Amino acid sequence: MRIESIEIKNYRVFKDVQIGDANNSPLPDLSVFVGANGSGKSTLFDVFGFLRDALIGNVHSALQKRGGFKEVRSRNTDGPIAFEIKFRESSKKPLVTYNLQIDEHDGRPIVAREILKYRRGSSGQPWHFLDFSNGAGSAITNEMDEVESEQDMQREEQVLESPEILAIKGLGQFQRFLAASAFRRLIEDWHVSDFHIEQARPSQEAGVAQHLSATGDNLPLVAQFLYERHPKIFKEILRKMTQRVPGVEKVEAESTVDGRIVLRFQDGAFKDPFIARYVSDGTIKMFAYLVLLHDPTPHPLLCVEEPENQLYPRLLEELAEEFRDYTYQGGQVMVSTHSPDFLNAVKLDEVFWLIKKDGYTQVHRASENELLQNLTKEGDLLGSLWKQGLFQGVDPQ
Ligand SMILES: Nc1ncnc2c1ncn2[C@@H]1O[C@H](COP(=O)(O)OP(=O)(O)OP(=O)(O)O)[C@@H](O)[C@H]1O
Ligand SMILES: [Mg+2]
Repeated sequence: MRIESIEIKNYRVFKDVQIGDANNSPLPDLSVFVGANGSGKSTLFDVFGFLRDALIGNVHSALQKRGGFKEVRSRNTDGPIAFEIKFRESSKKPLVTYNLQIDEHDGRPIVAREILKYRRGSSGQPWHFLDFSNGAGSAITNEMDEVESEQDMQREEQVLESPEILAIKGLGQFQRFLAASAFRRLIEDWHVSDFHIEQARPSQEAGVAQHLSATGDNLPLVAQFLYERHPKIFKEILRKMTQRVPGVEKVEAESTVDGRIVLRFQDGAFKDPFIARYVSDGTIKMFAYLVLLHDPTPHPLLCVEEPENQLYPRLLEELAEEFRDYTYQGGQVMVSTHSPDFLNAVKLDEVFWLIKKDGYTQVHRASENELLQNLTKEGDLLGSLWKQGLFQGVDPQ
């Protein structure tokens, strides 16, 4: 699954932005966002959080969680909050457009329009496989059939439970709607990592966890899961740990007599291991990233907030490579960063920068800047170019 472009209108600091261009320069597998504090990096990732909350609940509950429609809609605007996401299930599948507009009616947010469309064959207009407004609309039920025109497809009228519900959630007999199901999976399985050392350190009540949580607080459980169920992966994580953190020889997830799980880090120089509480911040962080990135069932989209904190600068190069490896398993990764060392390890095509001007943010792509194109061709690294002030407008004024 690949998201090729994202268009956002009236969502907080993003009054009108487009990131990636599906026709000319789609979003890469790994995209890296830099920008001053408050420029919208976390807000960008929250677009996916918002969509997931809207899918699990409805647009009303997703907005309430964020302060309500008036708080979320870009200040001083009156249009609907709108998203357009273009994606492909795989490189051979058609480009699908998902379009969502949320407006307010009698003080309640409603789904003013929701469309899922894609082109059949190589030319002509995209067909609307799903088209809903205010809780009612129609969807095509025989997507797989060979038919010549959109009119020949079977279209079913449906009324949703309420105009606050997304059609991709509320459609009856959901499995018949292929592209809608694919998009739903992408949103449901999206993951954000905003890792907090202090939350990953304590021991955990015994239990099972297969995926690392957003804050990393279930790290001991996921480590134990990998150790028991995916020993090869666990061994690989250990191999990398020993290469990257001097002294670390072994990591174990151990159950205590009171039924908790603790992580133990063995230092080659000493007989007894250190428990997680007493190893260094960077050791825990590197271990958590390796666990996150060696997930046996990777997320289709992984967003990572500022991975650089606590890590030795040279390791950031390896971490960037690790993020790319993750995408080879079919996922896509987006990273926010304030680290020139991390930027030094990424490619021109992967970098975007955010500029906030007059209250709203614009997004620029490094690969569209001629000077940066030339300088990186000559071997300059992006982190250094950023520090030299060549990402025009990015620094706080
Ligand atoms: N409705 C709105 N209209 C316009 N701007 C808004 C609205 N709601 C929030 N904002 C602004 O959006 C910004 C949110 O920034 P965000 O947290 O995404 O920044 P960030 O790039 O992640 O920063 P940091 O580097 O500090 O983590 C804030 O500056 C906030 O004032
Ligand atoms: Mg942020």
